[in-house]
This record gives sequence, structure tokens and C-alpha cells, in this order.
Amino acid sequence: MVSLAEQGKKHQPLVKIEWDKLVIVIWRDIEHPMEEAHLIDSVDILNVSKAGLLRVKHFNLKAEQEPKLEVNLSELKEWTYKIQARCNLHGTWEDEITL
Ligand SMILES: [Fe+2]
Repeated sequence: MVSLAEQGKKHQPLVKIEWDKLVIVIWRDIEHPMEEAHLIDSVDILNVSKAGLLRVKHFNLKAEQEPKLEVNLSELKEWTYKIQARCNLHGTWEDEITL
């Protein structure tokens, strides 16, 4: 059985800022498969506020697509965001960033 830590290496999104873009890569040390039977099928960017989580962007990913997204920082406000990536077999994984 694969440990949670091992699963995290290929599921937990890594979020970083590169120049004027928020870059989201959906794996850490081990690349996640992007096949019809097993893939990261969606990514949400949620605003973390006192009122709770508010989804501000949603992306659908398809098989063979690289599990990576870029968002122009001009599209986001200076808030704290949770980035959630959903694997069709292994559930939802997240990272957080404050702009
Ligand atoms: Fe998975």
C-alpha cells in the first residue's frame, strides 16, 4: 500500500509565482499520470475568507495534457488562495498561497 506521503509527492499541487504569473504544477517529486483511467481532472482556485471558501477559478484537465496551469496575476487580487487539484482515483489535494 502506498503511504499518504508517497501519494502526496505526485498529487499535492505546488504553487509558485514566476514573474507575472501564478504557476500551478500538480505534482512534487513524482509526475502524476494523465491517462483516461487515471488523471488530474480538475483544478480549483479558491479564495480563503472569513466567510469561507469562494471558488474564483475552475479548470478542467484532459488526458495527455500536462498537469500544469498558469494564471496571470492581474486576474487575482491580493488575497489568500487554496489551490485544489482533484485526482479521479485519489481525491483532492491542496496547497495555499498568499499574494
Ligand atoms: Fe492519482
